[in-house]
Amino acid sequence: MDKQLEALQKAFDEDIAQARSEKELDQLKVRYLGRKGELTSILRQMGSLDPKERPRIGGLSNKLKVYMENAFDLRVKDLEKTHVVKGVDVSLPGRMPGKGGVHIVNQVLSEIEDIFINLGFRIVAGPEIEDDYHNFEALNIPAHHPARDMQDTFYFSEDVLLRTHTSPVQIRVMESEGLPVRIIAPGKVYRCDSDVSHIPMFHQVEGLWVEEGITFAHLKGVLYSFLHTFFGPDVPIRFRASFFPFTEPSAEVDIGCIICKGRGCRVCGNTGWIEILGSGMVDPAVYGFVDIDPESVTGFAFGLGVERVAMLKYCIDDIRLFFENDLRFLNQFS
Ligand code: PHE
Repeated sequence: MDKQLEALQKAFDEDIAQARSEKELDQLKVRYLGRKGELTSILRQMGSLDPKERPRIGGLSNKLKVYMENAFDLRVKDLEKTHVVKGVDVSLPGRMPGKGGVHIVNQVLSEIEDIFINLGFRIVAGPEIEDDYHNFEALNIPAHHPARDMQDTFYFSEDVLLRTHTSPVQIRVMESEGLPVRIIAPGKVYRCDSDVSHIPMFHQVEGLWVEEGITFAHLKGVLYSFLHTFFGPDVPIRFRASFFPFTEPSAEVDIGCIICKGRGCRVCGNTGWIEILGSGMVDPAVYGFVDIDPESVTGFAFGLGVERVAMLKYCIDDIRLFFENDLRFLNQFS
């Protein structure tokens, strides 16, 4: 019996030295001191002992029990000292909450808005789900007009669609607010289009200034002012005659390719120039749709591609990067 107790203590010492968590200690406690534990089963054999031996062995067993209980207490305190409590190391630094950032497209949008606010423009919004009338008809693009093919449209029904440009906001503002109007309308637009340089959703900023005496010179002045503030005073700018059903005359505006500095590259198709916006004087036919006398006022409008200018400003060569949400890309701008 003495030998058994001795062996038990030795095994116990080894086991408890190896315990690394409170859970392991609990398991050991059951194994050694529990009702079916090792020490208990030794004590059960007391009955078969010589009665003279019983008190001595009983004393030894009790001593071992107290020894074990003390050892458990000490180990728990030990573990607390090394900060490992219930399997958790409380000395480790906490997990930091991830810090978000404003998406690069929204940063660029805010920057554009600020510049136009400083030029006296007001910001308005329009619906992304539009009707055929505002997206096409009232912009002088009747059904079957070939210009409808300029933009591949997502339709909900014959009459309801995802706006293909921000120009319908021109109509909504002129319908509901009196003159003069000097607004920009930033927002999402949708086209049924997807390849290396096209994505089905992107952002535009529409501009509209209608007031007595507005000329093409005002259009040029505002756009030069914007482009020089946004891209810097040295950026080359050119106006190129173009066509839109809702402006006459119309012009597209190109800036010198920032990527190759005008020498010609993949991004500018070797021309040295990149188109960034469409613009023109509001076509008198459009005023007819919003009950404005075309003889009383003139105005200009423009529509700017936000991802386009963001790509140029930050030398991004693939438009799809904006919406893949790869944090390695996005974090460069936060
Ligand atoms: N809405 C035109 C487009 O998306 C751009 C534009 C806006 C052109 C305003 C002229 C005036 O292509």
